[in-house]
Amino acid sequence: MRGVILREVGKPVEVSDRLTLRRPGPGEVRVRLRAAGVCHSDLSMCDGTLPAPRPLVPGHEGAGEVVELGPGVAGPPVGTHVILSWIPPCGNCYFCLGGQPNLCVTARSAAGPPTLSLGDEQAHAALGVGCFAEETVVDARAAIPIPDDVPFDVAAVVGCGVLTGVGAVVNTAGVRPGSSVLVIGCGGVGINVIQGAKLAAAAPVLAVDRLPGKLEIARRFGATHTTTPDGLADAVKELTEGRGFDYAFEVVGRSATIKQAWQATRRGGTTVVVGAGSLEDQVSFSAAELFATERRLLGCLYGSGDVRTDFGRLLRLWRAGRLDLDGLISRRITLDDVGDAFTAMASGEVIRSLIVF
Ligand code: APR
Ligand code: ZN
Ligand code: ZN
Repeated sequence: MRGVILREVGKPVEVSDRLTLRRPGPGEVRVRLRAAGVCHSDLSMCDGTLPAPRPLVPGHEGAGEVVELGPGVAGPPVGTHVILSWIPPCGNCYFCLGGQPNLCVTARSAAGPPTLSLGDEQAHAALGVGCFAEETVVDARAAIPIPDDVPFDVAAVVGCGVLTGVGAVVNTAGVRPGSSVLVIGCGGVGINVIQGAKLAAAAPVLAVDRLPGKLEIARRFGATHTTTPDGLADAVKELTEGRGFDYAFEVVGRSATIKQAWQATRRGGTTVVVGAGSLEDQVSFSAAELFATERRLLGCLYGSGDVRTDFGRLLRLWRAGRLDLDGLISRRITLDDVGDAFTAMASGEVIRSLIVF
């Protein structure tokens, strides 16, 4: 089959038609991809910011159709439309039973032998899903059924960016109506933090991005105020009487922007780190300020969501017109254009490029 391959960090990705996929084993299903979004974490795996094995088939934001079940697998049945979850909840571990299935580690670590090969070489599916290929074999619990009438492109973006962004607001932070919210980074994920803040009836919602074009989009998705980073300090004074925001979301994935979000959070307020930074990038705080200002610093993985219920919840909000998913898709591309999509993402031209198969 065809798929995108990363051979070396920092080198352009290639498209190969020599990828082979093994049959699904016990506990697995084969899914034919119908749409896949290009998320910044894919670029981060390709440029080395996030670690990933190679050769790698990137892509972790996808939707498709179940085409084969492994031996003894009860479902979802062949023909079911699904969103792929890059953290399949096992349902039985400490985290799943404790209401934090986004932290489940059991399912992927219990996965069978490698699913992909490239000639006689083993290849790796990014985050256990590898969506930038025509098909994928995944843990059956990673294939989350959705209604047949949901378009695959809308479904795909729910699989990472939308759950991560909206979930950061409604799950991780639990923002209450009337709270002031700051969002630093208005990309595919940040725009969904802004939509989440609108859903949560937050106000004011200040969006910050280094690119003015992104600020215009941020307003369309619910930001009440916008600024480039140089205007942040003034905006904090103006919008919060100098107190700082009740909630500040960092959606870039860098220590410098985490520090900005932290500094713009009020005493007793909450900073949420949504961006996926690198292992080497350290953030520091003085022990005294953490103690004396009682600010809270929260990590956020996959929007603290439960994919088994949250994918459906987000799609119902979309159906009711409360969540704009169609507007997130800037351009539709093919597998051959993934390299260009990374360039467009790095230069900030797009919210999401969506691969259609
Ligand atoms: N200050 C403000 N905005 C910035 C800065 C900065 N210093 N640096 C980058 N940005 C903006 C970019 O202009 C862009 O609009 O952050 C946005 C990042 O958006 P995308 O590249 O579309 O990335 P996205 O897919 O939204 O992911 C954001 O979340 O899931 C993680 O790995 C992902 O760390 C990444 C983050
Ligand atoms: Zn992602
Ligand atoms: Zn689990």
